[in-house]
Amino acid sequence: MTRNLPTSGSLRNHLVLTLIGGAAILALLLFFAIRNYATQVAQQGQDNILGASVTSILDAASIRDGTIEVDIPYASFSMLSTQSDDRIFYAIYQDETFLSGYPKLSLATVSGQESIFQSVKHRGKTVRLVTASRTLIGIEKRTQIRVALAQTQDALSGTLAQISRNAALFGTGFFALAALLSIWASSTTVGQLKRLTNSVTRRGPQDLSPFEKPVPSEMLPLVTSLNSLMQRLDHSLGQSEDFIAEAAHRVRTPLATVRSYAEATLQRVDKEENRQALRSMVRAIDESSRAAGQLLDHAMITFRADHLEHQNLDLVALVNELVVRLMPIAEMKDLELRFHSDAQITYSGDPVLIQNAVRNLIDNALKYSPSEGTVNILVTAAPNVHVRVCDSGNGFPSEELNTLATRFKRGKNAEGTIGSGLGLTIAMDVARAHGGNLQLSNGTEGGACALLSL
Ligand SMILES: Nc1ncnc2c1ncn2[C@@H]1O[C@H](COP(=O)(O)OP(=O)(O)O)[C@@H](O)[C@H]1O
Ligand SMILES: [Mg+2]
Repeated sequence: MTRNLPTSGSLRNHLVLTLIGGAAILALLLFFAIRNYATQVAQQGQDNILGASVTSILDAASIRDGTIEVDIPYASFSMLSTQSDDRIFYAIYQDETFLSGYPKLSLATVSGQESIFQSVKHRGKTVRLVTASRTLIGIEKRTQIRVALAQTQDALSGTLAQISRNAALFGTGFFALAALLSIWASSTTVGQLKRLTNSVTRRGPQDLSPFEKPVPSEMLPLVTSLNSLMQRLDHSLGQSEDFIAEAAHRVRTPLATVRSYAEATLQRVDKEENRQALRSMVRAIDESSRAAGQLLDHAMITFRADHLEHQNLDLVALVNELVVRLMPIAEMKDLELRFHSDAQITYSGDPVLIQNAVRNLIDNALKYSPSEGTVNILVTAAPNVHVRVCDSGNGFPSEELNTLATRFKRGKNAEGTIGSGLGLTIAMDVARAHGGNLQLSNGTEGGACALLSL
């Protein structure tokens, strides 16, 4: 069962959002920088022409016979002409006296040579205004001529709007390109992580070998700790398996010794009372050695099921050998073991586990069916490889059919028989480890049937 861990958001989304956010800010900055610069350049252009024009007007001013004459040259207005037919206003003052032009044009006070440029409102429109002055020296007087020249900014605004449009287009293009690049960059970065995840997921549960494929240096610590974790896991799994084998041996051997002593003593004791006690003792030893054995078998199978030792074997011979071995026990109970099979079935699996599973099924048949019955054991590869053990007893308790194969579960009919409730669990685990299953059913004419498919 895998539990859904909480996530702290997506790395990919985080990367994409950060990069796209950065690109958006850059695109905006770029847009404003271009527009600002273009405005400055365009304004500078208009100012230059206005400056030249006002100078040419001032140059045309002269004193003749004591009166001021300003003969405005045609060129000084024609050089200001624009595509948008921007309007031009001018005003000429001698000292503080208005001479000609538009009297409402507000002049700046100028001193000296420099021209003053301003953006002002005139007749409800923004105009660029330049004011310049020149001192004329006549025979008996010196006088100051001041000229103001203003021009509307329609052409300039048009140009600026166009530049803004282009800058916006350029910014959008830049942003789109940057966004695509961010998505691509995030995908390749996260792709590396995905590849590692895939190679971890694709491994079987028993594959504890280290990762050796090259990974980006940032991921190296993760892979290194994963490798060391797997190494430790492999080591401790190996240790546990050795421990189980050792424990099985250490438990079974002394019990077998005690049992043989008890049996030998039984031969020598005459008093019925004592013989009864010794028989109970042998039975108790059998019970505990069987229980201990099954517990360890179960533990062993849980381990081996994770890393099965596949071996090519003849399933018919394997089961037959077991049946022959169990024959004496069956005879003691007046039960007949019948073996039916195909001629030969080559199968790749773990022989120790398979024998263990089938032995548990036959054990059950011997335990739970009354004497003078028959136990049919069938090994066949048609339609799929399976071993079927059917007896002529009372069958499985039908209301418990679905739960009998769970750990330590014993049926209602098990009272008085030795057992630990692990036999069917072991058979089921072995079948599943080999890609099969265990099915329990009751025959129409009574009797329990266990089908171990492999
Ligand atoms: N051949 C059988 N006939 C009737 N009942 C059976 C048979 N095999 C198993 N059972 C029932 O299934 C239960 C579980 O079997 P198992 O796991 O082998 O445990 P155990 O044999 O130790 O009781 C048994 O306790 C018994 O109730
Ligand atoms: Mg059993």
